[in-house]
Amino acid sequence: MDTPFIYGKLASKNNFTNRSKEISQLITNFNSGINTILISPRRWGKSSLVTHAANQASQSKPELRFCFIDLFNIRTEEDFYQILAQEVIQSTSNKIDGMVDLIKKFLGNFIPKISFNPTLESSLTLGLDWKELKNNPDDILNLAEKIAEKKNLKFVICIDEFQNMSTFENPLAFQQKLRSHWQKHQSTSYCLFGSKRHMLLDVFSNSSMPFYKFGDILFLQKITEENWIPFIIQRFSDTGKSIAASEAIQITKIADCHPYYVQQLAQQVWLRTEVKCNEKTVEQAFENLIDQLSLLFQTKTDELIETQINLLEAIIDGEVQLSSQRVLTQYRLGTSANSLKARKSLINKEIIDIEKKNIVFLDPMYKHWLSKTYFKH
Ligand SMILES: Nc1ncnc2c1ncn2[C@@H]1O[C@H](COP(=O)(O)OP(=O)(O)OP(=O)(O)O)[C@@H](O)[C@H]1O
Ligand SMILES: [Mg+2]
Repeated sequence: MDTPFIYGKLASKNNFTNRSKEISQLITNFNSGINTILISPRRWGKSSLVTHAANQASQSKPELRFCFIDLFNIRTEEDFYQILAQEVIQSTSNKIDGMVDLIKKFLGNFIPKISFNPTLESSLTLGLDWKELKNNPDDILNLAEKIAEKKNLKFVICIDEFQNMSTFENPLAFQQKLRSHWQKHQSTSYCLFGSKRHMLLDVFSNSSMPFYKFGDILFLQKITEENWIPFIIQRFSDTGKSIAASEAIQITKIADCHPYYVQQLAQQVWLRTEVKCNEKTVEQAFENLIDQLSLLFQTKTDELIETQINLLEAIIDGEVQLSSQRVLTQYRLGTSANSLKARKSLINKEIIDIEKKNIVFLDPMYKHWLSKTYFKH
């Protein structure tokens, strides 16, 4: 039997829940050509949301064409241009003849080497002349817009893990290049998303940066408990098992509504449930999950310096005045400057974050592991 919960893959169809407000906002932006910047911590559902909204939007408007680019595996500007060109061509035509025509018409300057592999999902590979391209990337940066004008289409270029372009050789010059072309586009819009909030905010809300005020900035939230409960109950009953609301709540509470962990814990609970889930099943599944993750968490903790670990302990114990003399002494944090520095490093490492002036852990299971295992004396 297929398991009813998924994690580590995009949530789609039956696995996708709620987000109706965000979906309609994204679709409105796609249809009206408004650029969108979507930010959330890791594993909260950005990629799933954009893919879901794009599928819905293109079903009702066939002239909308979506290109998906994941910067996760793209290390250089050259690779970026190549993938951008491939994606734009492939989203315009799914026939080989059609693609060749487009390449001749719109990329003639580069005389790229073209190869097709129909067995792969991304079947087209363009070998572009990098020397030519480096001096003159305009044709590629404007490719979608030019095709859109000629063929009466609208493109939405979705770029995942956008913060990764900071690893390119000259990120600022690259951003300037992109912005100077993209801001002129009428029929192409951009949906840029990623997880490094501080880095992305610097790119999009710092007035000295090229992408300042480029589009709507959306901060994706976690999925609420009210939405998780019926989802979990439904997924159990779809597969001939049952879970009461109280246990579904127990799952969302432990996982702190974190989308990935709710699905992962629910899956562990489902596997342990023969017919009807009970409180004990959830507890056992939780313990097992923490065990599974402990090696990973141990490694993560080993990479921290002592002050950072001490600060985590103070936070776990519920301390809020992290620079007060008592806390500095009790938790061996050194000076208040040391404490502040450690706090900043933990934020940069995306272990903690500040939410409405409170310190929160971004990974709820890491928090559980620290308090249940690591700091348990
Ligand atoms: N709308 C949703 N309904 C149900 N589960 C979801 C939803 N969105 C996300 N999830 C769960 O969260 C997991 C992570 O989702 P996704 O990969 O879309 O997040 P992300 O923010 O793009 O993560 P990353 O920062 O790692 O790229 C999914 O595998 C799924 O288990
Ligand atoms: Mg993602």
